Amino acid sequence: MASEPDLNAPAVHGNPFEAYRQLRESDPVHWSDAFKGWCLYRHADVQTALGHPAFSSKRLDTFRRLTPPDRAAQVAEAFETLERWVLFQDGEAHHRQRRLFGHGFAPGAIRLMLPKIEAVADELIRGLATRPGFDAAAEFAIPFPVTVIADLFAVESGDRLRVQHWSDDIATFLTSIPIPAEACDRIGPTLRDLASTMAAVVAERRRHPRGEFIDELIRAGEDGTVLETADLMANFSVLLLAGNETTRNLIGNGIHLLLQHPDVLEQVRGDEGLWDHVVLEILRYRSPIQMISRLVVEEVELGGKRMKPGDQVFCMLGAANHDPEVFPDPERFDLRRANASDHLAFGAGPHFCVGYALALAEGRIALRRLFETFPGLRADPARPAEFLPITRLMGFTHLPVVTGA
Ligand code: HEM
Repeated sequence: MASEPDLNAPAVHGNPFEAYRQLRESDPVHWSDAFKGWCLYRHADVQTALGHPAFSSKRLDTFRRLTPPDRAAQVAEAFETLERWVLFQDGEAHHRQRRLFGHGFAPGAIRLMLPKIEAVADELIRGLATRPGFDAAAEFAIPFPVTVIADLFAVESGDRLRVQHWSDDIATFLTSIPIPAEACDRIGPTLRDLASTMAAVVAERRRHPRGEFIDELIRAGEDGTVLETADLMANFSVLLLAGNETTRNLIGNGIHLLLQHPDVLEQVRGDEGLWDHVVLEILRYRSPIQMISRLVVEEVELGGKRMKPGDQVFCMLGAANHDPEVFPDPERFDLRRANASDHLAFGAGPHFCVGYALALAEGRIALRRLFETFPGLRADPARPAEFLPITRLMGFTHLPVVTGA
């Protein structure tokens, strides 16, 4: 077996594709000592695992093990909320939770959100329009989805910064290995602040519903049952994490790729209908979530390897999306790729992303508005872009650009 390339090495952040290729070719279902679990590098294996009942999403114990022992009391309440998250359920419990999002994310509901998403793009761009340059990650891609979500949650515009802080604290808690002590100390107060702010919004909307996203969430499922407050709060917090950390990276990765591929940008500019397609290829080429995990709950064989109950499995979405068996010439960013929509960036199987249509709309609107407003946009030659230093995710912390105006 080949020695294992280090996917956590700083040099690999933002460009793990050569390491993925080596692993896919030498040992596609690989026991990783670094990850202490199986890593799946082929598209077919990832798709199988995400749809197979032997691979469970009830994996909160892995996060519990990452908590410093002296912080167990501080995180107990947070884990009660996480226990209710749709992301960490299986079977019937999962199905019940997931139904709650059905109406709010239906295509018709997303169409109604488009004017608000366009207004968010315009507002952010107005703030940048007079500047010779700006940070397209910190000042555009990162605030964009959080502002959209704050709107969906119907919080006052003065509270948007708090929504950003909630989102950041939840993300640090769930994406750091191990979880830092300060993140453990912050998560309880953060979730309480979220609950008290949202309780006021929910009380108001229960009195005066407006038929918007939040009203659908409050009125759970088709039967109109009113959700328990704790479930509602869990749903708000899962949407913050699932909708922000991901979409910001779709937008940041998209800006970077289009600046690197002016020929593609030129083609998209010439044909409005291509924006949807380019967003799919961005998701395939640089998937915002590079890996998701599962827990083996019954003995199973995959790719000739026997897996035992209790084993962790990492589905390497970013590697699957560069599998040449499915995507010929995978390292080519190809606007004309006929099967770009076969990417697994939104997962697969029962947990397939509920917010995918919203994410596609946000990506399309953000990129199109930005490149239309700044036709001369290019990377700032004096300030390098900085990749997010997290192996599970792919995106930018800083993306300096100049407008050329
Ligand atoms: C480019 C943006 C996005 C990407 C790449 C993405 C990716 C994913 C992936 C890979 C999963 C599956 C996780 C698993 O199987 O463990 C997922 C689930 C989910 N996503 Fe997204 N997502 C994006 C945007 C959004 C948005 C905008 C929302 C809502 C505001 C959202 C809400 C959710 C929820 C609630 C789940 C859990 C579904 C379930 O467990 O059944 N996502 N997403």
